[in-house]
Amino acid sequence: MGKQGQVRQGKRWYARAWVAPLAVVVAAFVAFSVPPYLAVDPGLSRVPAPPGNGWHFPVLVAHVVFGSVAILTCVVQVWPWFRQRYPVAHRRVGRVYVFAGVLPAGATALAIGAVSPFGPLNQVGNVLMGALWLAFTVTGYRMARRRRYVDHRRWMIRSFALTASIMSNRVWAVVATIALTPRLDTTFGGSPVALSQAVSGLAAWLGWVVPLLVAEWWLERGDARARRRRVEERSPRQPVGV
Ligand code: HEM
Repeated sequence: MGKQGQVRQGKRWYARAWVAPLAVVVAAFVAFSVPPYLAVDPGLSRVPAPPGNGWHFPVLVAHVVFGSVAILTCVVQVWPWFRQRYPVAHRRVGRVYVFAGVLPAGATALAIGAVSPFGPLNQVGNVLMGALWLAFTVTGYRMARRRRYVDHRRWMIRSFALTASIMSNRVWAVVATIALTPRLDTTFGGSPVALSQAVSGLAAWLGWVVPLLVAEWWLERGDARARRRRVEERSPRQPVGV
């Protein structure tokens, strides 16, 4: 196997214990967010339809269903044990993640994001996030097709950061509501609309920018360690007294 095909081995199980909590959080998120849309009843939607866009609700439902495929399959894909033990299944689940998850969920996100009823900050944040999600995932897929597995891993970590970030979006909305509501009559001049647009705008941006920065830090940290290992291999330390 060439350098690009090398798989990191030998980590202890507790260094990978993040997979189980991730799976629980993702399952809880899907169980809470998705059911209102499965009834295909616009009255149950948590997103009010923007006036004059009759297509919005069916596209939102499609987005939620494909988004669920993406977020559920990505848990399996980032699990190192599964990747190493079942490489063929990793490829198959990967195709489901890309073609039945991110591509349709990202394309529908661009459409509903552009007309979001939660204001311009939210619209721009969502459209940019959707475009980056598509770009990272397509690049990661193309790298795998070319057998450039080191690059594949890097782009798919970025794709994963955006997929999973949709959960942190909801947390930021709660934090922003708690932080900003006391300023309704001052900063927002008593306008609940201005307040709610600021809350959803902050959630839309912080929701994906922070996880993407964490992903970049994680990748950079891995690169720095690999560089240190290479230097040590080239010039091993002399034993004391030699
Ligand atoms: C990562 C790129 C994503 C983008 C850009 C995106 C964008 C959007 C947009 C624009 C909306 C409509 C709300 C609004 O107008 O602001 C929405 C709603 C929704 N999205 Fe996504 N989404 C993404 C990923 C996901 C994923 C992975 C899931 C997983 C299930 C998901 C689940 C939902 C749900 C459940 C709603 C309905 C809102 C609610 O009930 O809270 N989205 N999304």
